[in-house]
Amino acid sequence: MRAALFVFSGTGNTMRVCTRLAEELRARGHETELYPIRAESSYPDPRAYDVVIVGFPVHAFNAPEPVLKFLKTFPAADKKAPRPVYLVRTSGEPLKMNDASAITPRRILKHRGYCVLGEYRYVMPYNIIFRHSDGMAARMWRAAESGLPVAAEEIAEGGGRREGVNVFKRMFTFVLRIEHTAMPILGHRFKATDKCIGCGACAKVCPQGNIEMVDGRPKFKRSCAGCMGCAFSCPEDALKISLLNGWRVNGKYTFEGEPAADSEVQRYCRKSYIRYFHRAEGDESGGKAEKKKKAKK
Ligand SMILES: Cc1cc2nc3c(=O)[nH]c(=O)nc-3n(C[C@H](O)[C@H](O)[C@H](O)COP(=O)(O)O)c2cc1C
Ligand code: SF4
Ligand code: SF4
Repeated sequence: MRAALFVFSGTGNTMRVCTRLAEELRARGHETELYPIRAESSYPDPRAYDVVIVGFPVHAFNAPEPVLKFLKTFPAADKKAPRPVYLVRTSGEPLKMNDASAITPRRILKHRGYCVLGEYRYVMPYNIIFRHSDGMAARMWRAAESGLPVAAEEIAEGGGRREGVNVFKRMFTFVLRIEHTAMPILGHRFKATDKCIGCGACAKVCPQGNIEMVDGRPKFKRSCAGCMGCAFSCPEDALKISLLNGWRVNGKYTFEGEPAADSEVQRYCRKSYIRYFHRAEGDESGGKAEKKKKAKK
């Protein structure tokens, strides 16, 4: 099998997951090529591959705008024999509603003669709102690592599962696609503070080519996709990200060290993280069995 992985990633989480998936596929003898989705890139014809995998982070319960734009460039394929596509997403929290991020990519692909056979989502640490602890990041990565070999097997066999869609999910994602209009406006107002040393790391990381270095300072244009790559990667934490500044997260996660125990999971969405971890760790009850056992004692 020959596979192409096209990946949009602002702060590296989705790239990390997809890189491991590519390794899992290669280890099973499948030729696998990985292409970052960036404004300045050109891509091979997806029809040249037996299977196409598209990776992206969930943004406001949707796929980021550059991903939708990228999918619209897929050359038309035979609708009577749709070509297989898999979606691999990362999200900061396990909430089921994040699965709705597949709805619009599915629709675009269907119109072009492609069919989404399977959808995977892995919880990875937040790059916005708040910073997860290193222990949480390590436990998330452990969960993803245990799921990715299974995904690789399914993809190679042409299997997979899609999440159900209902009117509520459609409406919810439709409304939140306002993010696609808002981010270019907000992003244009990002600014470097006096801490900026003019290193250009933000401009280099931006997948949208939205940052130009002018007189040693970053200048933000109008095509921001809100990926947070710039604010996250700045070595001096020197960026102010407009109205989102209170949600700024800066600095890479290590993913190493001791995975957080259940008691160390933060209060926010605590139950759903614990359920997600237990399921990934092979406890199909999502931690309920263990809880019952403790209660009996
Ligand atoms: C603008 C924006 C919106 C986000 N919205 C969601 C969301 O709706 N649900 C969620 O679980 N995570 C959300 N996240 C968190 C990311 O999906 C998560 O941290 C992801 O792993 C980042 O991947 P990346 O490093 O490949 O960019 C959002 C992040 C950003 C920057
Ligand atoms: S990464 Fe930070 S320090 Fe470097 S140019 Fe950008 S804002 Fe300035
Ligand atoms: S300006 Fe920053 S947040 Fe916007 S697309 Fe570029 S790296 Fe991402």
